[in-house]
Amino acid sequence: MTQTAPSGTTTRHITVAVNGEPVAAQVAVRTLLSDFLRHGCDLTGTHVGCEQGVCGACTVLVDGDAVRSCLMLAVQADGRSVETVESLAAGERLSTFQREMRAQHGLQCGFCTPGILMSVTAAERRGDPVERAEQEVLGGHVCRCTGYAGIRAAIRRTWEERA
Ligand code: FES
Ligand code: FES
Repeated sequence: MTQTAPSGTTTRHITVAVNGEPVAAQVAVRTLLSDFLRHGCDLTGTHVGCEQGVCGACTVLVDGDAVRSCLMLAVQADGRSVETVESLAAGERLSTFQREMRAQHGLQCGFCTPGILMSVTAAERRGDPVERAEQEVLGGHVCRCTGYAGIRAAIRRTWEERA
């Protein structure tokens, strides 16, 4: 896959494993990872809100760690593994936390949801205690709709199912 850059812009060739698939592209060095994913890879599940690291909507996993993709350049992802929200479900089969977010009414407009799904997935894989997972969501993500109660319930249910 190739991304074009405006003439006169410094570009660099990168190869990134995106959701398990190698993606090779020529990108402008100033391209944000969030823009690379949305516009270069057509993975629009990664949302962009504040573009300054505050809202958490753009969160993806880089080598397994939750990262604000609006604060990272695409060239910094060269040679690394990136997971987006599109990777969580296996076909129609949702991950446990995705299923619980739906069951516990953890989303309304859904704008914040991809970022929360990725941060909580990272916490789940790390084996974080449920209290830390709840704090991580509350501290690292802005949700203007839900009041967080449904998200907390979904986290608790997910951790209970893992026990
Ligand atoms: S868009 Fe990246 S933190 Fe808000
Ligand atoms: S569900 Fe609308 S911002 Fe969170």
